[in-house]
Amino acid sequence: MTVKRTVGGYGSNWLCDNITVGDTIEVLPPSGVFTPADLDADFLLWAAGSGITPIMSIVKSVLSAGTGRVVLCYANRDERSVIFAEELRDLAAGYAGRLTVLHWLESIRGLPTPAQMSGFTRTVFPGSAGFDSFICGPAPFMAVIKDALTEAGVPPARVHLEVFRSLSGDPFDDDNLSVTTDFDDGDAAAVRVDLDGTSHQLRWPRRATLVDVLVAAGVDVPYSCKEGQCGSCAARLVHGEVDMASCEILEPEDLTDGLILGCQARPVSDDLHIEF
Ligand code: FES
Repeated sequence: MTVKRTVGGYGSNWLCDNITVGDTIEVLPPSGVFTPADLDADFLLWAAGSGITPIMSIVKSVLSAGTGRVVLCYANRDERSVIFAEELRDLAAGYAGRLTVLHWLESIRGLPTPAQMSGFTRTVFPGSAGFDSFICGPAPFMAVIKDALTEAGVPPARVHLEVFRSLSGDPFDDDNLSVTTDFDDGDAAAVRVDLDGTSHQLRWPRRATLVDVLVAAGVDVPYSCKEGQCGSCAARLVHGEVDMASCEILEPEDLTDGLILGCQARPVSDDLHIEF
């Protein structure tokens, strides 16, 4: 776990103020789609600030379980703000020839621009069009890198973004955590939900989200924010059609692949099949 205290941040402040060495935290299992399909591929990884968190997991997974090369371009305000600086140095030394870490410090080079990054990708990584790119950081940073990769000829299918949004509500407020159960006005679809090796056949009232329905049925469905922001409730729509109030964290390719957010999905068709 990586925690960087943020002014006004619900999670980071609670963790920094309440958790001490020896405490045990119960967490959801890893989820989401910001993961390499093949650890043996070559990777061009981009991180800015605390965006290194998921990127670091990819770095370690590829190096320890795969065979591919990893180039990490890591942008920070200044040298002191580089998270994992020492660990990255050790990894680069231990995996010489497979891991290259390039630091971009705003204090020295300013904020990266599309033109700089485009030139950077072309000159530093001439073969990078064949690499898989994963990008995590503030939205303007991700937009710059995405544009630079497009300019450098990297196919869109090889570019993956971790879209992160802060919650609008306090996740420690019980009212925000509760789910709605008063939703059944008789108009419902039928849904089969496959979760943890069990198939559930349920009525799905049209005003209810999938998370609401599963919680009401006593199914241990993964969810966290209930605002369509965290992705912990992501599932795959095998059959049928849903409507989602908010799904900005899903890329167009994710939607094409049938990914949905259970906390946002309401049924449109009469008969649906969903897999977690
Ligand atoms: S619970 Fe966070 S996106 Fe659905």
